[in-house]
Amino acid sequence: MRTLIANGTVVNAGGSARADVLIDGETIALVGAVPEVAVDRRIDAAGKYVIPGAIDVHTHMELPFGGTFAKDTFETGTRAAAFGGTTTIIDFAVQSRGGSLRDGLDAWHAKAQGNAVIDYGFHMIMSDVNDDSLREMDALVGEGVTDFKLFTAYPGVFLSDDGAIFRAMQRTAHNGGLILMHAENGPAIDVVAAQAFEAGQTDPYFHGVVRYPIFEGEATNRVISLAEAAGVAVYIVHLSARDALDAVRTARDRGVNAFAETCPQYLFLSLEDLGHGFEGAKFICSPPLRTTDHQTELWKGLVKDDLQLVSTDHCPFDFKGQKDLGRGDFRKVPNGLPGVEDRVDLMHDGGVVGGWISKERWVEVVSAAPARMFGLEGRKGTVAPGADADLVVYDPNRRHVISATTHHMNVDYSCYEGRHVQGGSDVVLSRGEVIVENGTWQGAAGRGRFLKRQPTGGAIR
Ligand code: URP
Ligand code: ZN
Ligand code: ZN
Repeated sequence: MRTLIANGTVVNAGGSARADVLIDGETIALVGAVPEVAVDRRIDAAGKYVIPGAIDVHTHMELPFGGTFAKDTFETGTRAAAFGGTTTIIDFAVQSRGGSLRDGLDAWHAKAQGNAVIDYGFHMIMSDVNDDSLREMDALVGEGVTDFKLFTAYPGVFLSDDGAIFRAMQRTAHNGGLILMHAENGPAIDVVAAQAFEAGQTDPYFHGVVRYPIFEGEATNRVISLAEAAGVAVYIVHLSARDALDAVRTARDRGVNAFAETCPQYLFLSLEDLGHGFEGAKFICSPPLRTTDHQTELWKGLVKDDLQLVSTDHCPFDFKGQKDLGRGDFRKVPNGLPGVEDRVDLMHDGGVVGGWISKERWVEVVSAAPARMFGLEGRKGTVAPGADADLVVYDPNRRHVISATTHHMNVDYSCYEGRHVQGGSDVVLSRGEVIVENGTWQGAAGRGRFLKRQPTGGAIR
């Protein structure tokens, strides 16, 4: 099967040019002036961008959390991702307390295989660092599950103490993997949260108040220091606060291999959204939404590459039946927001149209940097011969309104309800196959493949 995408502007992280793209089978055969060839399908991209399919390296399909499960399955969540121009996700498999990494990983393979409609990889959440799980880390790296998320937050659930984190970091220094850190001081947060609750401050708004930015800054600084001592790179997930960005920036200025992502919710939403009574539960995630002054700093961080990429931390819970487990006690609201479908358009609208970043930097933060950071370089994240033909014909002028009534995520609300955005994915291809065309699903069920990734140790330029 040969497909020609003609007359578009190919946008890569490194530059843009008017060029045709010839696809042969699952990969890109040629980019540039394509000679007259017989093709099975021709897609006209005049006036459109042709970008590499976006990569979301932080999703939680079916995550058990807060007494319930994230609502999107690998089928519904990856389909929604594709509608939004994302053709690869990396989801977090979970080691249960007392369980093995192997059991956790097997469970995630079972959830995804035959259900995901785009390609996917896994990181591993470690909630029990011990001699056995440390040994298992090496095996997982060999199987292409190259990154391990640890937490300084959520005491009694996922939190690891500094010794455990340091041991995992030492191990990755040998196996070439990468440590991902959820950096907030969970024990200190729990003290303030209990005090707020005792004082009658039970609404979702107080979730945002008690998780001080300085708690994120302190933990970020701490885990970067631990990584420095262990001689490994560290990647901070879902960075939300200026205090944490300062810690990353300072470390990077010293030449430390510290990296970080932020998420659209921290760029576009704020503490105010947590107000309005229990409606604010729709916006409960951790770290929490911050005051608007933090947003400006995060945009600067993206401009200056102190933040390397943008992921979603997609972790959807219905407002009715899930978020309302926490009525009367903000501590019991399941933490997490939907967003896998909206990231590419929000970053185009707020970032490119909004004047913060170029269209090339937009491709860098949603696609190219994720590929480089997480062992998919050359295969994903680029429009180049030999790469998988994961491509999006993107209309930079199309306008639409984000709404739960039209989105494809399996969740009963949108954090961006009513927001007008400029830019949208017209045609989405995954390994040469058109899976979304003008708002209709064309892909086969369960067609996504597991991606065995190469360890990078965070070695990105
Ligand atoms: O609130 C969040 N972020 N939920 C998902 C779990 C995590 O910490 O990433
Ligand atoms: Zn987290
Ligand atoms: Zn997460």
